[in-house]
Amino acid sequence: MSKYPFINRKTELKNLISGLKHGRDYVLIAPRRFGKTSLAKKVLKEISQDNNYLIIHIDLMFYSGGDVKSIAEGIINSCLNMLGISGKIRQLWRQVDFSVNLKLNYGDLGLEPIIQLFKDSSGEDDWRLLEEALELPEKIAIKKNKKVIVFYDEFGEIDHFVERVIKVFRSVVQHHEEVSYLFAGSQETLMNKIFLDKSGAFYRFGELITLKELTKPDVFMYIAETHPKMKPEIISEILELLNGHPYYTSRILSYFISNPEMFIDVKSFYNYIRAVLIPQEEAYLELQILKIKERVNALDVMRVLSLRLSPYTELQLKEQQVYSTLRMLEIGGYIRKESRGIYTITDPLLNFFLRD
Ligand SMILES: Nc1ncnc2c1ncn2[C@@H]1O[C@H](COP(=O)(O)OP(=O)(O)OP(=O)(O)O)[C@@H](O)[C@H]1O
Ligand SMILES: [Mg+2]
Repeated sequence: MSKYPFINRKTELKNLISGLKHGRDYVLIAPRRFGKTSLAKKVLKEISQDNNYLIIHIDLMFYSGGDVKSIAEGIINSCLNMLGISGKIRQLWRQVDFSVNLKLNYGDLGLEPIIQLFKDSSGEDDWRLLEEALELPEKIAIKKNKKVIVFYDEFGEIDHFVERVIKVFRSVVQHHEEVSYLFAGSQETLMNKIFLDKSGAFYRFGELITLKELTKPDVFMYIAETHPKMKPEIISEILELLNGHPYYTSRILSYFISNPEMFIDVKSFYNYIRAVLIPQEEAYLELQILKIKERVNALDVMRVLSLRLSPYTELQLKEQQVYSTLRMLEIGGYIRKESRGIYTITDPLLNFFLRD
């Protein structure tokens, strides 16, 4: 397998690359581990080949426990790094030659006030610092006479901050003419609430892209080409069980390389799933189950769905209860509506785990 395997997503790649280059904003939503970050990185790498664009990548996961100042700090760091200033503002401003260097090389960007604000800020100043940090990409674009693409990963994490943070974000970034934004996050982290709710702060901010599993023919071709020793019947079994899920598929393929004997027939393949893959993923599966259990009956509904039965007929619950539980599971990204009354579990390994 090549070092950076990347299967399909051709339509999404094409649309995102051309749309971002044309100044449009996008929101990428999918359940956990569906390949949001991988897709975004591929898009950014492609755009960065073009000298007219600058790329800033900010992962909000790192700041999810933090306060307003640390989010601002993260944004400033990413901007400085993009400009080729390595290091972190927290250490940088103490260096004697840093402010000289800034004036000499980046004087036209007007970074000194931000640095000053960073040094002194506390309390209400932190909000000004955040605004200044959010303005940086637009300032950089104008001064450098280039378009800037900003990628905020794990944007759902922003919901853990006080509401005012989201409002400040929107109020600043919506005025930016020279910057395109790409937001990514999983349904579990409330992306829907921020971007889909009419009352959400980012309602109608950008075009919504919901990632699905990779398509089975694409994954089949990919495995057959890169792993010619894998038997077609096993490839079919992988697709049947894991439904083209990017993360699990790549886990299996890397295990296959060093342990081909686990894949000689269907029986040993399932042995591998139970004895290796599930234990490897146990913590993650348990965490999902814990979250699902936060709502009464939700785990029972999931179990019934994993058996491809209907929770309306199988459970001793009122129709309204089943309906609202299904809604909650769908909003959380745990299940997906296939057609009227038909739901499937989005995490195929969880599906197997519940059924097994
Ligand atoms: N298009 C793809 N082709 C092949 N493998 C992929 C593809 N997309 C994702 N993967 C594999 O799946 C793994 C998970 O992908 P990624 O981290 O991009 O998902 P994510 O949606 O950002 O997950 P999270 O919600 O946890 O941040 C990657 O490490 C990679 O191995
Ligand atoms: Mg990710």
